[in-house]
Parts: sequence; structure tokens; C-alpha cells
Amino acid sequence: MKTLIIYKSYHHMSTEKIAKAMAETLNAKLGKVDDAKPEDLAEYDLIGFGSGIYNYKHHKDLIEFIENMPSMNDKKVFIFSTSGNYRERHHNLIKEKLNEKGCKIIGDFTCFGEFRPLGFNLNVNGPLAFIFGKNKGHPDEKDLENAQEFAKSLLNE
Ligand SMILES: Cc1cc2nc3c(=O)[nH]c(=O)nc-3n(C[C@H](O)[C@H](O)[C@H](O)COP(=O)(O)O)c2cc1C
Repeated sequence: MKTLIIYKSYHHMSTEKIAKAMAETLNAKLGKVDDAKPEDLAEYDLIGFGSGIYNYKHHKDLIEFIENMPSMNDKKVFIFSTSGNYRERHHNLIKEKLNEKGCKIIGDFTCFGEFRPLGFNLNVNGPLAFIFGKNKGHPDEKDLENAQEFAKSLLNE
């Protein structure tokens, strides 16, 4: 299956680590959303879309890219993210946009990513994490392993 993974990662490059782990398993081409072109998508059988979660949704550049894609005619896609705090609704907007384009979503994956709101991480829980940081060391080895297991499972879809 010819696979492309498009991602946006900037805060602590956590989503990039997940994207690279998945790309290795799927033997996929990896591309930053800033360099991706909607007209290049046609040659792929499977496309992954991922970013960190910023204000409860995927990065706006990724959402805008999907909005500018042509109709995808049942193309198989998957979604991934890293976030401070997993919430199911984080993936709602991107799912809605991919459905609008006629994509067939065959899976989604998420894990913690390091969050350093003020540039340092004291690794605390609760509301103070929004000042002092959390999820130090994530994605860790186990997260990367889980991402690769998830990627493998896509090959049976
Ligand atoms: C501006 C900003 C907004 C964020 N908003 C959320 C959020 O709404 N929910 C959440 O769980 N994490 C949030 N986070 C944490 C990021 O999702 C997390 O750090 C993620 O791993 C960043 O991915 P990246 O390093 O690939 O950019 C936010 C981080 C930043 C910098």
C-alpha cells in the first residue's frame, strides 16, 4: 500500500516523533503539511494526517490543507495526534473535514506529548500544568511502540 503521512509539529516536535515511527512501519513517505500539495495525494492508497492538539483541535494548517483537498472518493486515511490531555473530541473537527471530502477513516491514534507552556516542564498534573508543564518525556518508548502497533494494524484494513 503506497502511503503518505502529512503532519504538523512545532511545540516540542512530539508529533513528528510519532509520524516518523509510523512512517518506518508503513514504509511511508513523510511530509510536513507546509510542503504538501493537494495534487500529489492521488498516487497514494493510504494517507495519514497528524499534528499536536492546540486549543482542542488539530493544527489549523492541517485543517486548512484538508479543506483545500479535492474530493477523495473513498480514499483510506488515518488520523493521529499528541496532546497534553487526551479528549475524544480533539479528533472531531478533523474527522468532520475528512468525511466532508469523502475519505474513509480507517483508524485514529493519540498519545501524550510534552507540554511546556512557558518553555520549561516541572511535570505537574491538574490545572497548574498549564503554567508548569506536563508529560515530561512523552512520547516515550512505549508510546512509539504503540504508534507502530497501530500502524501495523492499518495494513489489515
Ligand atoms: C498553544 C498550545 C495549545 C495547546 N492546546 C491544547 C489543548 O487544547 N488540549 C491539549 O490536550 N493539549 C494542548 N496543548 C498541548 C499539545 O497538544 C502537546 O504539547 C502536543 O504534544 C504538541 O505537539 P507538537 O510538539 O508536535 O507540536 C497545547 C499546546 C500549545 C503549545
